[in-house]
Amino acid sequence: MDDDEKKELISVINSGWFTEASKTRQFEKMIADFVGVKYACAVTSGTTALYVGLKALGIGRGDEVIVPDLTFVASPNSVEEVGAKPVLIDIEQNSLNIDLKKIKHAITKRTKAIMPVDFNGRGIDIKNITELANKHNLSLIEDAAHGLGCFYNKKHVGTMSDIGIFSFSTPKIITTGQGGMIVTNNKKLYEKCKSVKDFGRKSGTKQNMRMAFEHPTIGYNFKFTEFQAAIGIAQMKKLRKRMIIKKKMFRIYEELLSKLSFVNFIKTDLDIVTPWMVDVLVDSKRKRDAIIKHLEKNHVETRIFYPPIHRLAPYKDKDMKFKITSKISDRGIWLPSSPTLKENDIEYVCRKIISFSKTNYF
Ligand SMILES: Cc1ncc(COP(=O)(O)O)c(C=O)c1O
Repeated sequence: MDDDEKKELISVINSGWFTEASKTRQFEKMIADFVGVKYACAVTSGTTALYVGLKALGIGRGDEVIVPDLTFVASPNSVEEVGAKPVLIDIEQNSLNIDLKKIKHAITKRTKAIMPVDFNGRGIDIKNITELANKHNLSLIEDAAHGLGCFYNKKHVGTMSDIGIFSFSTPKIITTGQGGMIVTNNKKLYEKCKSVKDFGRKSGTKQNMRMAFEHPTIGYNFKFTEFQAAIGIAQMKKLRKRMIIKKKMFRIYEELLSKLSFVNFIKTDLDIVTPWMVDVLVDSKRKRDAIIKHLEKNHVETRIFYPPIHRLAPYKDKDMKFKITSKISDRGIWLPSSPTLKENDIEYVCRKIISFSKTNYF
């Protein structure tokens, strides 16, 4: 962040109005216009966006939602939070998204929705998943938390499902500190989302003080603030430049590490995908962990991929055998990917990865 965010923020402080209002509407419109949807609804986080989206879809106790095993815990947790059951299934090797071939076996009478997760912005085969969802009368709620700036079939990810969500937590391509956005082309769903996040008020009635205490349904408080919106507006003006930087960074890493047999890049079409972080697969878990240690010694911080959900305590299931998720999760590393990194920083990281092949490990 720089003076652009400071200027926007000061204008909110000077205005004297802090809870969501005109700046939030402006930020929502910027997102809606950028991704190409009719409606965008800002909430406190990506997790909240999933929760509010599920509520708006009417999903609750006794229902099931299909979720990929490779995702951040927020995806299944949001399903639990509405009282439904997340049903985990394996991912598909190339897209790292939910495996459509395996969904059919997981559909029961209780299934109400599918939650594809666009891992690092790589979209799902939207035509086939939509056909499948329509056939079984299921809703699609797309977790595109990583996906701002990513497209599939010339449309932005998250916009072709009933509901899509984005996250603006600090490491994302744009941030509002914390924050999330629900996008949809369905007016009814949009209005339900607005109501759920605003104490169950009827969407649009809040300005009218006489109706401020009318609550036709149960709702909560997941409203945005003008501070977050101000930051978001300044950040959105930087998005296109950051998309170029992120793609360039991915290409540089790919080129510099291309000779290493133990580091593999996931096939990524940079014409349509803006990788939020540079992700690579190492040829074994042991070697991956050793590389991470080696980089740490050289002051380079990395992140392992999310663990498979079925290995986490609340979802633990020994009988689940999700081979692809386990293989990908055990071997994945996210390399340093901040848009502030200079080319020589990336070269340094790559030199250290290359020097790993000269360590005792080999
Ligand atoms: C796939 C996925 N879904 C949901 C979330 C939750 O977003 P937030 O941190 O904004 O709540 C994240 C966070 O990184 C995520 O990676």
